[in-house]
Amino acid sequence: MPSTLRRPRLPVLSLIGNTPLVPIHFRDENRTLYAKAEFLNPSGSVKDRLALCVIEDAEERGLLRENSVILECTSGNTGISLAMVGAAKGYKVKILMSDTASVERRYLIEQFGGTVQLFKATAGYGTGIAMTRDLAAKDDRYFLPCQFENLLNAQDHEEHTGREIISQMHGIVDAFVAGYGTGGTITGCGRALRAVNPSVKIYAMEPAEAAMLSGEMPCCHSIEGVAGGYVPPLLRMAHIDAPVKVTSTAAIAMTRRLSREYGLLVGTSSGANVVAALRVAQDLGPESRVVTVLCDRAERYYSTKLFSPYN
Ligand SMILES: Cc1ncc(COP(=O)(O)O)c(C=O)c1O
Repeated sequence: MPSTLRRPRLPVLSLIGNTPLVPIHFRDENRTLYAKAEFLNPSGSVKDRLALCVIEDAEERGLLRENSVILECTSGNTGISLAMVGAAKGYKVKILMSDTASVERRYLIEQFGGTVQLFKATAGYGTGIAMTRDLAAKDDRYFLPCQFENLLNAQDHEEHTGREIISQMHGIVDAFVAGYGTGGTITGCGRALRAVNPSVKIYAMEPAEAAMLSGEMPCCHSIEGVAGGYVPPLLRMAHIDAPVKVTSTAAIAMTRRLSREYGLLVGTSSGANVVAALRVAQDLGPESRVVTVLCDRAERYYSTKLFSPYN
């Protein structure tokens, strides 16, 4: 029986979390939003938090061995984060990713030494999740973080991201707005914020083309990383006040505006979150304190509509 492992944190891993919260003032709209700059995590997204948390939890519980392979289905960012943490700790990582995810995500995972297997996007995340379970049933080297149902995902956001926001906002938050992939960010941050202010409003941004929380059928959209055709179990635990629908076109336009007018080189789901948050702030009034999330960096979208001058 191979021995269990607990490997040290290399310095890069201490760069995860404690991200800044930046105010963004929209002069024309006369509103200021407060944006959690998760794109400043070392691999470039909010998912670094989850990757470190689940891998160190697995080490603690003796679930990782010398020959273990970390296996996960993801829209890409979790794959990049797991591959980065895996590289820093010396674990192999295999990622199942939808064939619609941007090619940059695949290159980044491979650059960190991970391997990628693509699955057809048509049936949504459910297909990839089932594939990870099948692989793990046949080969006990695989360790599955199960990001869509792992309670640690939301718990880590509650204990860290959410509490960081509370401290950075000096405890005063009227509303929190975020998209959902696994639902970890919105569920965990929402829980932390509600614990200090039970009347805080929690809004779920969702693509207008795949507005499942609004009761609509999922269809193609260009806001990568969110709404993968599946309402994840973690999201069912979130106490969401209302969904806010954002079109891919509006998300792309705002993402470009964030780069060109504010110097924030972020990905499309960040732009979508800002569109939704601005709408919420317009409803709540000029003094409202609305917090949202800048989830990842723009460089992983070179091949997408975000960087196409004709879209
Ligand atoms: C770009 C992007 N935005 C937002 C999210 C949503 O985060 P969560 O999985 O915590 O709901 C993800 C998740 O993968 C993502 O990749």
